Amino acid sequence: MIKVAVVGATGYTGEELVEVLNKNPEVEITSLSAIVDRERPFGEMFPRFGKKISLPCEKLDVDKVASACDIVFLALPHTVSMKFAPVFLSKGKKVVDLSADYRLPQDVYEKWYGLEHSDAAGIKEAVYGLPELNRSRLRDARLVANPGCYPTSVILALMPLARDIAEKGPDVVVDSKSGATGAGRKAAIPLAFGEVDSNMKCYKANAHQHMPEMEHILSVSSGKDFRLNFTPHLVPMRRGILSTIYVKHASLPREEEIYSMYLEKYDSEPFVRVRPPGEIPELKDVAGTNFCDIGFTVASGMLVVVSVIDNLLKGASGQAAQNMNIMCGFDERQGLL
Ligand SMILES: NC(=O)c1ccc[n+]([C@@H]2O[C@H](COP(=O)([O-])OP(=O)(O)OC[C@H]3O[C@@H](n4cnc5c(N)ncnc54)[C@H](OP(=O)(O)O)[C@@H]3O)[C@@H](O)[C@H]2O)c1
Repeated sequence: MIKVAVVGATGYTGEELVEVLNKNPEVEITSLSAIVDRERPFGEMFPRFGKKISLPCEKLDVDKVASACDIVFLALPHTVSMKFAPVFLSKGKKVVDLSADYRLPQDVYEKWYGLEHSDAAGIKEAVYGLPELNRSRLRDARLVANPGCYPTSVILALMPLARDIAEKGPDVVVDSKSGATGAGRKAAIPLAFGEVDSNMKCYKANAHQHMPEMEHILSVSSGKDFRLNFTPHLVPMRRGILSTIYVKHASLPREEEIYSMYLEKYDSEPFVRVRPPGEIPELKDVAGTNFCDIGFTVASGMLVVVSVIDNLLKGASGQAAQNMNIMCGFDERQGLL
């Protein structure tokens, strides 16, 4: 049994972490914290848990959290995580950080997030928490940089083909749609019901901070310089991401060859499912699960790949719990199926 703490437990990913960790028979949740004005039982703050979670959600006290656990999940905004991760590491705790603070090389982070990073050693040490890429390194990791939600959907969809695509140098255009929980629980006018309901909008076209994360990880995994164009959209739903990826090139492999490349990479993966050519997955196929489903089709020199995930599970808390299972030597699927 390992003892875990969730810092940022009142946010969307924190709440979801409590859900998946509570289902894991090898895990005891021993500490829940956030900014909180009034400490009270978590099951009272979030009545859907009721008496299942009687632990209070407390105002964050680093020493108290560290003394209560073996592993800390930081479900905090970027810039906040980098203040706490080194402190927990210095107290001998393992850390899974859900923010963007440890996902990128320092110079790329500082350029895209517009501030100086205060923990260069942490950036060097962190392992990018995509099990399908880094499973063996995750087993010994002390600090895991859990991937972003859009990057998870796009990197998984392109990783088996990335070397081939980068060598041919085609245009890669990524069009992703996300539900409103992707932006977190805090109040913001663009995320108010009246703005999101019955509406769709494109934002940060080719300027979203997840684009360099996709390019960096696809470059690392393929050993080639990988570039793409990325445009996200906000659509009127609570959760889920659907990414449609267009790869244009005159000499693309045949569909059967592409299918073999996907199966070779993912056939034994517990949470990635690839459809036969021409079968395109939908969001409802993965809603409420830790799966990423991928489908594709090729026509007129264009490869179209569609990938779907639940942003709060495979795109955040489910993947974080999967990483913890790997770090602890548990069955990777535990608490997630
Ligand atoms: N939402 C997604 O789909 C998603 C997917 C992948 C990754 N992520 C990343 O995961 C992280 C959390 O996202 P989220 O959507 O859960 O955000 P959120 O709903 O806004 O929750 C943020 C949490 O952090 C707490 N917090 C903020 N500043 C704090 C501080 N100084 N000390 C202690 N607690 C503090 C908040 O506490 P209070 O409630 O008390 O203010 C809240 O519990 C972010 O970095 C985000 O980019 C999110």
